[in-house]
Amino acid sequence: MKKVLVTGGAGFIGSNFIHFALENMRDITIINLDALTYAGNLENLADLEGDTRYSFVHGDICNMECLTSIFTSNEINAVVHFAAESHVDRSIKNPMAFILTNIVGTANLLNASLHAWKRMKESQRSAFRFLHISTDEVFGSLGADDPPFTEQSAYAPNSPYAASKASADYLVRSYERTYGLPAIITNCSNNYGAYQYPEKFIPLIILNAIEGKPLPLYGDGGQIRDWLYVDDHCAALLKILANGKPGQSYNIGGNNQCTNLEIAHQICTILDELLPDSAHKPHEHLITFVKDRPGHDRRYAMDTTKIKRELEWEPHFELNEGLQRTVRWYLEHKKWVERVRSRPSYNDWIVQNYASREKETR
Ligand code: NAD
Ligand code: TYD
Repeated sequence: MKKVLVTGGAGFIGSNFIHFALENMRDITIINLDALTYAGNLENLADLEGDTRYSFVHGDICNMECLTSIFTSNEINAVVHFAAESHVDRSIKNPMAFILTNIVGTANLLNASLHAWKRMKESQRSAFRFLHISTDEVFGSLGADDPPFTEQSAYAPNSPYAASKASADYLVRSYERTYGLPAIITNCSNNYGAYQYPEKFIPLIILNAIEGKPLPLYGDGGQIRDWLYVDDHCAALLKILANGKPGQSYNIGGNNQCTNLEIAHQICTILDELLPDSAHKPHEHLITFVKDRPGHDRRYAMDTTKIKRELEWEPHFELNEGLQRTVRWYLEHKKWVERVRSRPSYNDWIVQNYASREKETR
């Protein structure tokens, strides 16, 4: 049995990963360490209650005592590190939260892991993995004709979020180079799918459209992201955990590059079909251009040649299929949405982010 410490497992990607890993690997048990910030939601994992292969610890990666206690009472074979502050717009309003969790928290986790790793038997030490989940945003913004980011692209983060993730990546890299901790970094593109917190672009557009609210597109809506369906991401992470090489980084992308405006149109078309009697049809009439995000990266794109060549992974979900599944999931989980959106942390943010974004005519 492999014992894996997952951090941030009550969030969007972490909770999908826990489900995916327990379903696809018979020989693992998972400890989920999560601080349950506004983005953490144990309801995402409610179906695992009573599962002997899963346990939850409520704690903060910035709290060294909490980390030490987990490592001393468990023989951890791998750490999969998702815990982070993850929303770019929030990082613009409150960068310190990002610096604390994403940089200091990652440094703490590295120290606790290193301490435990040094005390392991040689065979356990070589099998240990520290898998750090990072983002394509560390590479900065691409021009329209630039080639996609490779693992060799220079780091050029533009938002406090991206800078905090880049800093964490450098720390992880240095612990591998300096101390030999078997660490791997993954840089993935924008994820979407079930359980994504509704402040993020795709769920926000789906839910606003269902309710007939304006669909806010920043600037001209021409920014390009490389959308990765979360199940494809989880499959890539399991391959990397099994066969990725320590000291390496791997790009993970969806091969689905399109503009935010195109995404909004696709979601509207899907809803027109799924809700033929909706009073808000055609939903695309709800599209509204609003004041842009400062420092907004224009384009991300990932070259995934390395992970395909070395680990035989490639994404399976075409954008339209992934969006169909995601729209259906939000339509079928109205109670989940209601509960998340009834918390003050959600409503306060919506007011703070959108009240000052006056409508722009295009
Ligand atoms: P999320 O915001 O949905 O979830 C983050 C989770 O981390 C939450 O459960 C939260 O409670 C927990 N957390 C936050 N601070 C913590 C702390 N100090 N200690 C312990 N737990 C803490 O994020 P997500 O979208 O699932 O992203 C997961 C990881 O993937 C992040 O590291 C993010 O940078 C990275 N990533 C995300 C995307 C994306 O599109 N969502 C893309 C690239 C990379
Ligand atoms: P987001 O989900 O915040 O991810 P990221 O900024 O990490 O890529 O946003 C995805 C894209 O959607 C990004 O270009 C910003 C844009 N966006 C809007 O146009 N309107 C919105 O209300 C939000 C939240 C995002």
